[in-house]
Amino acid sequence: MTTPKSFPEELLKTLAQYHQAHLVHWWEELDERQQDELTSQIQLIDFAQIQRLYSPTHPQKTEESPAQKAERATHPATVIRLQDRAQSAPETAQAVQAGNQLLAEGKVGAILVAGGQGSRLGFEHPKGMYPVGPVKQTSLFQILVEQLIARSRNAGKPICYFIMTSDATHAETVTYFNEHQNFGLQAEQLYFFKQGTMPAVDEQTGEILLEEKHRIAVSPDGHGGMLAALKKSGLFEVMQAKGIEYLYYHQVDNPTAIVCDPEFLGYHLQRAAEVSVKVVSKRSPDEKMGIVCDVDQKTQIIEYSDLPDHIAELTDKDGNLLHWAGSTAIHIFNRAFLEQIANDDGLLPFHQAYKKVPFIDSTGDQVSPDEPNAIKFERFIFDVLPVAETVLVYEIDRLREFNPLKNADGPDSPQTVNAALCRIHGQWLTACGVEIAEGTPVEISPLIALDESELKTRISPDDQFTAPIYLGE
Ligand code: UD1
Repeated sequence: MTTPKSFPEELLKTLAQYHQAHLVHWWEELDERQQDELTSQIQLIDFAQIQRLYSPTHPQKTEESPAQKAERATHPATVIRLQDRAQSAPETAQAVQAGNQLLAEGKVGAILVAGGQGSRLGFEHPKGMYPVGPVKQTSLFQILVEQLIARSRNAGKPICYFIMTSDATHAETVTYFNEHQNFGLQAEQLYFFKQGTMPAVDEQTGEILLEEKHRIAVSPDGHGGMLAALKKSGLFEVMQAKGIEYLYYHQVDNPTAIVCDPEFLGYHLQRAAEVSVKVVSKRSPDEKMGIVCDVDQKTQIIEYSDLPDHIAELTDKDGNLLHWAGSTAIHIFNRAFLEQIANDDGLLPFHQAYKKVPFIDSTGDQVSPDEPNAIKFERFIFDVLPVAETVLVYEIDRLREFNPLKNADGPDSPQTVNAALCRIHGQWLTACGVEIAEGTPVEISPLIALDESELKTRISPDDQFTAPIYLGE
């Protein structure tokens, strides 16, 4: 018989110092593999940070809450509205040119956050694998990757894709890309990096919860965890070495986001912004979107869960929503600016969410609570906004660019995303002189065309198409 392993003495002292010694209460019962697993999880935890975050005197608990800030929020001062751009065609044309030049110089990289699972959709895989293409059931990942390939081709320079995964999505995402030869993206252009986790703590005691006797209850650290993850994986250095100065950030759930949109890049450059955000008019006060607003002359995003109803419902003298500017979570960040924030770990706050987290109680029983019992900690990348000197807020046409997949049915569901892709691609074909019957399923691969004007160069009005229409390479 082998002598049982003992828990490392130094770590035990740390646990005791932070009142977390219960984590090794079941140590003797664990087999060697379980002991190793628990030890490595414990080694990853910053106990001082957890103690600070839980403490009632933590600055975030004594400072003003986002809900309180929302009371004096005004709409953003620097917004460029759609109608402004329609009236300033020369400026827009210059922006497109400037954006294309940045791409041609290789100064732009793209970041895709794909740490979330499709559980709200009832899809137990990484959300990016969800098949949304109306004809070929193309996945979200494929549509976004093909956009990047097409954009690289147009720029004459490879654009790198930095894809953030989480423990829940990493292995399956990487396998999925391998199985599909990265959908044609060159291996040198593709970087996966995994975000970190944060332990869940008992709301009453601040004790870290065990999900099993040998496993700590952890959850992804939010998309704000991207900064620590980029730093840890050395990707800021990679970006620097490649001359990447601008990062085009988007979420995996929106296949109609225009990846590396030259016009947006150009406006970002012209306005000397450190951070830019694309916004759309919210459909209703209760639409689940963060609002972009100014508080004390600082542009920021207040998340929908923090926005009191009476503020969300405020209207101006014409009856329009005061806080109409919903964040699409499409951003441009200056790489140097993000790096500076990543180097100062205290700058990005943690948000706390009260959740039901199953745990092992002090008698060793597994408990599945009916009420929220735990605090989960998450960082949001958009909290970098108030740190920036200049933020550009840029309104887009939601029908064209904001069709996210969030729910299993109803709004923002597979049905609505499908319909949006058919509508957009159908409009392009109609503009090219092709007659199509209403309701015809249409899917155009980004490899054929990224927009209507590109499609015009690829097809002629005499071309014959039979429904369903798929144009791809
Ligand atoms: C998000 C925004 C909201 C915005 C809306 C637009 C947040 C907190 N809220 O809401 O302000 O108006 O999108 O569609 O972002 N993700 C990770 N790791 C994580 C958490 C999330 O990679 O730890 C990724 C997901 O894969 C997804 C994206 O971030 O691509 C958004 O996450 P989700 O939780 O779905 O945000 P929403 O509630 O839809």
